[in-house]
Amino acid sequence: MDGEPSELQLKSFKESNAKINIWEGAVRSGKTYISLWRFITELKEGPPGDYALITRTYDTFKRNILKMLEEMIGIRDVGWRSGHRECHVFGKTIHIIGADDERAESKIRGPTFSGAYVDEVSIIPESVFRMLISRCAMRGAKIFGTTNPDSPYHWLKKDFLDGNPDVKSWQFKLDDNPELAEDDKEYLKRQYNGLWYQRFIEGKWVQAEGSVYEFFTEERCVINAPPSYTSSYIVGVDYGTTNPCAFVLIGHDSNRFPNFWVESEYYFDSRIAQRQKTDTEYADDLQKFLEGHPIEAIYLDPSAVSFRMELQKRGVAKLYEANNEVLDGIHFMRNLLWNGTLKVCRGCTNVIKELQSYVWDAKSALTGIDKPKKVNDHALDAIRYALYTHLFGKDGQRLTAQDIDRMEMEARGGGGPTLPRFFQDSDLRVH
Ligand SMILES: Nc1ncnc2c1ncn2[C@@H]1O[C@H](COP(=O)(O)OP(=O)(O)OP(=O)(O)O)[C@@H](O)[C@H]1O
Ligand SMILES: [Mg+2]
Repeated sequence: MDGEPSELQLKSFKESNAKINIWEGAVRSGKTYISLWRFITELKEGPPGDYALITRTYDTFKRNILKMLEEMIGIRDVGWRSGHRECHVFGKTIHIIGADDERAESKIRGPTFSGAYVDEVSIIPESVFRMLISRCAMRGAKIFGTTNPDSPYHWLKKDFLDGNPDVKSWQFKLDDNPELAEDDKEYLKRQYNGLWYQRFIEGKWVQAEGSVYEFFTEERCVINAPPSYTSSYIVGVDYGTTNPCAFVLIGHDSNRFPNFWVESEYYFDSRIAQRQKTDTEYADDLQKFLEGHPIEAIYLDPSAVSFRMELQKRGVAKLYEANNEVLDGIHFMRNLLWNGTLKVCRGCTNVIKELQSYVWDAKSALTGIDKPKKVNDHALDAIRYALYTHLFGKDGQRLTAQDIDRMEMEARGGGGPTLPRFFQDSDLRVH
């Protein structure tokens, strides 16, 4: 893989001399690759002093950036030592900062930077990005960043990408990555649908609106009976006392299609019943619900602390706290339903009702934050907890759609980058 950069990669490389430079667009479209090369060039030729490199977590730095940097300039020249939060490239110190929450702002409040690199700007806190800009106050200091599109009301879009004189940006599509083979593009296109397709494949900043599972129909997603007997069930629990409480039993058989099916549900709405149930009653109900089924894992609503204790007291085994990344979980569950891997048995009437009525929160969308409206979501939360945590999030690590995509890609043997001859050309200069 000794490729030339694409036209847009080259153009953006040469033009990126604004105070803030943002590579935006589709997944795997070559944004990180070219912007890192630009950052390396800046380290070589830019102002002296310390630089910052911000990713969502230190882990994402290691997984996405460090690996690429090492492949680009060689392990020795990256000057990173295991566990250290610094790199040393061309004699410049680069401070590695994980910005997964607002507290990261304090990490950059003090120092002044001569430049910075931010991977996936849209998912770091706004306060961190603004603080970074104020810390890059030195003359000639530049910020280089990549992002996938998000809501059109996102702060990055409104305040930086739309008509800000300090910002230059380039919109990347899959075709702008010269290394992406046609079948990889086709594969990626199949991985995303609806809102996610528009954002991550078409590179558009579109709003999450209307129905979350807009493609759901009974013909497409509902089956009359479980497809097979299985020795492996997983269970999701969304706990509620004033709100409804839902359990779902999900069958799993990796040797047939569909692989997952919601076989049965338990749904108790205290408002309809006009009485609340205690943890003891719910625990009785859950044990009865699971009776006779071989259970691989039970994923519990992370907020259901007292219920979890009650189950532990009874010796209920294989309990796990669910990962509650709402958007990533929805994206994942949508993919399974969309491609037919997940089906719902006809008897699960509450699951079906909720799939039909689950909508994006229109008010929240206007503030640039995508979230579903928190009504009629109990059985769906239970399914999301079970599936997402079972397959991706048991260790509580946060994964984005891109991370999942990348892991799938890597599992299929998709290769990493090697140093292209073009970039070894010492005549290459930024104009
Ligand atoms: N010109 C190129 N030559 C060689 N490899 C490339 C080139 N451009 C991109 N790649 C490789 O293609 C893959 C995807 O590129 P990259 O990670 O830059 O995409 P991205 O736009 O940052 O994607 P995401 O939005 O998912 O982070 C990487 O493995 C990268 O090394
Ligand atoms: Mg990237």
